[in-house]
Amino acid sequence: MKTVHPSVYRASILHFLSDPLLDGDEAYEYFEDGALVVDQGKVIQLGDAQTLLAQLDHPANLVDLRGQLIIPGFIDTHLHYPQIDIMASHGEALLDWLNRYTFPAEQAFKDPRHALETANFFVDELLKNGTTTAAVFGTVHKTSVNAFFEVSQARNTRMICGQVMMDRNAPRALCDTATQSYEDSSELISKWHQNGRQQYAVTPRFAITSSPAQLEVAAQLLKDTPSLLLQTHLSENKDEIAFALKLFPEANDYLDIYERYGLVNSNSVFAHALHLNDDQCQRLGAQQAKIAFCPSSNLFLGSGLADIKKFDTHNLGLSLASDVGAGTRLSMLHTMAEAYKVCRLQNYSLDALRSFYLATLAGAKALGLEDKVGSFRPGNEADFVVLNYDATSLMKRRQVQCEDLPDKLFALLMLGDDRSITSTYVAGKRVYHADNNPHA
Ligand code: GUN
Ligand code: ZN
Repeated sequence: MKTVHPSVYRASILHFLSDPLLDGDEAYEYFEDGALVVDQGKVIQLGDAQTLLAQLDHPANLVDLRGQLIIPGFIDTHLHYPQIDIMASHGEALLDWLNRYTFPAEQAFKDPRHALETANFFVDELLKNGTTTAAVFGTVHKTSVNAFFEVSQARNTRMICGQVMMDRNAPRALCDTATQSYEDSSELISKWHQNGRQQYAVTPRFAITSSPAQLEVAAQLLKDTPSLLLQTHLSENKDEIAFALKLFPEANDYLDIYERYGLVNSNSVFAHALHLNDDQCQRLGAQQAKIAFCPSSNLFLGSGLADIKKFDTHNLGLSLASDVGAGTRLSMLHTMAEAYKVCRLQNYSLDALRSFYLATLAGAKALGLEDKVGSFRPGNEADFVVLNYDATSLMKRRQVQCEDLPDKLFALLMLGDDRSITSTYVAGKRVYHADNNPHA
């Protein structure tokens, strides 16, 4: 039998052990001339290249990427694959945008061929952008989720997906019933949850499109299988909030709707969470609930500005997300740049190192995956991305001016996008390389 040797990737290497907001320089490890040792799809070792290479007592395949930066694969904690074809649709705020663009597009996912073709395109685009893990909404159709997981399984990516539950306030063709959503979700959970690297998430769209009976079903699904995540939207838009409170008049505020159905805990990932008062933030923090901050979407739809300082005060489990199709790029570099601008509009300068933390380890923590991905802890799955600081002549000129790591990272995130991704690795295997891409 042929012996497969470990691979050693030599480059600048950065990863996080904790939140730089809390632990400053102790929160990350950075090796200017680093080596990442990968064997059988797992991280074996990380360290200074010269020291590590001298210590290696067995042959290894050396991949020389000096001058580039290796970080863990990006983690996008909230987006919708069926909306990839309606990105950049003009002119509406949330509820009108859903009715005019989103709901018509989602109806096509009843067709398994359309679902499969779109899922293939979508996952390839994620990889091209360096995103190796994502929490993804399907549509109300079982076919959409089966297609997505088949595609992800074939690439061995670690992905989370769920069938959208919605039984009211949407076109008839997109409405299920509480019973149907229980049956469909249960079937998909048996088939896909923890099957290889796939994980299921219970996915009621938002309070507006689920009846009380359906929110009860969501809670029941979580009780049936406690390792499941819940993903939904919370408090994105002022008209949405008013409508939700009209539908649930007994609730004191938007969050209280979900609380009443037992849907707020450490396995819950809420997209947006704008327009929250201190009391709602405090309750989210007390439950260790997770927030997906979706800056490009919030700016695109004009939904509002997430108050990161307030989130941090209440210790919310913050992560970054594109929220495509309302988000304007799949790129997590672009998402970090938009996050910076949202914070600047509130007189706050989001730190570059923290931004990279939010797009990697924080995402893993939000999705309960920090013992698998999001950092290069030995034993973790070797999902990583190779970034080129000098992807364009302009970026190259800007990098010449950079004096330290935060400066280099900031220029990279602000000017970079998919052109900055040289290659993407999933469980130690290269699944994307810019040279293969005629547009790169
Ligand atoms: N709220 C309910 N559904 C959606 C959606 O598809 N996108 C966004 N941005 N918000 C939502
Ligand atoms: Zn969304």
